Amino acid sequence: MLRDTLNRPVKDLRISVTDRCNFRCTYCMPFDEYEWIEKKEILSFEEIERLARLFIPLGVDKIRLTGGEPLLRKDLDKLVARLTALTGLRDLCLTTNASHLAEMAAPLKAAGLTRINVSLDTLDAEKFKRMTGRGDLAAVLEGLSVAQRIGLLPIKINAVIERGVNDNEILDLVEFSRQNGFAIRFIEYMDVGNANQWQSGRMVSKKEILEVIQTRYSLRLTGRDQESAPSVDFELTDGSGDIGVIASVTEPFCFGCTRARLTADGKLVTCLFSNDGHDLKTLMRSAATDEDLLEVILAIWTRRADRYSEERLEAMHSRKGYEPRAHKKIEMIRLGG
Ligand code: GTP
Ligand code: 5AD
Ligand code: SF4
Ligand code: SF4
Repeated sequence: MLRDTLNRPVKDLRISVTDRCNFRCTYCMPFDEYEWIEKKEILSFEEIERLARLFIPLGVDKIRLTGGEPLLRKDLDKLVARLTALTGLRDLCLTTNASHLAEMAAPLKAAGLTRINVSLDTLDAEKFKRMTGRGDLAAVLEGLSVAQRIGLLPIKINAVIERGVNDNEILDLVEFSRQNGFAIRFIEYMDVGNANQWQSGRMVSKKEILEVIQTRYSLRLTGRDQESAPSVDFELTDGSGDIGVIASVTEPFCFGCTRARLTADGKLVTCLFSNDGHDLKTLMRSAATDEDLLEVILAIWTRRADRYSEERLEAMHSRKGYEPRAHKKIEMIRLGG
């Protein structure tokens, strides 16, 4: 089986289908000035399917579609149908801001999508607009409700917690999720990309998040899915809900990182904090055979040594400290998390 230098197999492929997004979340993409990927550089559905087909025999059994905002990609359901038809996939899922979910849930479900993760950081409509730059909370809630009715399940809520912004809503978000039958994962604010002016003080740690939750709820640890998932999961001991914490800053999980990422313009990226990817699109468009592509992908994964979040934590604990802006990274909006 294919392994990288740290003995990690490749099991998950996160495919960004567009870098466009209708939101400007403060922690992801706060500015308008950004060089959008040109239309002609965006992979076609045929090209995405071809790469997905090549990754499956290498060990990939889970594909996640991301963006930007993936629902802005025209005819996304057609891509879902193509991927659903591939043999060897255990899980096909989507991470979305849900602003267009009310219209898209039914076609996506019909095409074979089973489940979704939805970003939702606040239940306050004004704050939602501020945090997302322009988002409409009511549309997101409507999207969630339609998706649930249609059976895109389970639905997981992703809430990035930022100190002084939405850390007072942790209990409300648990209660909202519990009452509606959604799982919720709290995410430590990360220094992804270059645009978000991250400072460690704005990150609320897993420890703090759990302390707040435990003031009202009793939790039982259930652990990481597949031993490699970013989220450490818990269930409420009365059985009324599931919560998770994604603690990439204070408890990094690079040791089990089996994720490869594909940008919308066909770059293979081996870490969320990479400064560049490997251009598979140009190869594909210059008549490379499947064997040529496989050889390149194998060489990239075999050489992979990424462990950025573990290195960040080591630096944060060192005398020199960690300087988030010392290292240029690909913008989050190109990687979709
Ligand atoms: P499930 O398959 O439902 O467990 O989803 P997931 O948590 O793998 O994916 P999702 O797109 O919902 O991402 C949730 C959060 O985890 C986002 O903030 C991602 O940026 C973050 N995340 C996902 N994979 C990685 C990773 O490999 N490294 C780091 N540092 N963060 C990650
Ligand atoms: N820190 C943590 N999570 C982030 N996401 C986007 N930017 C950040 C950040 N700086 C999350 C979104 C979405 C997922 C794909 O990534 O909330 O749920
Ligand atoms: Fe927000 Fe997701 Fe859009 Fe980034 S890609 S601005 S996190 S909605
Ligand atoms: Fe994987 Fe990089 Fe995230 Fe570590 S920081 S878990 S190597 S994507």
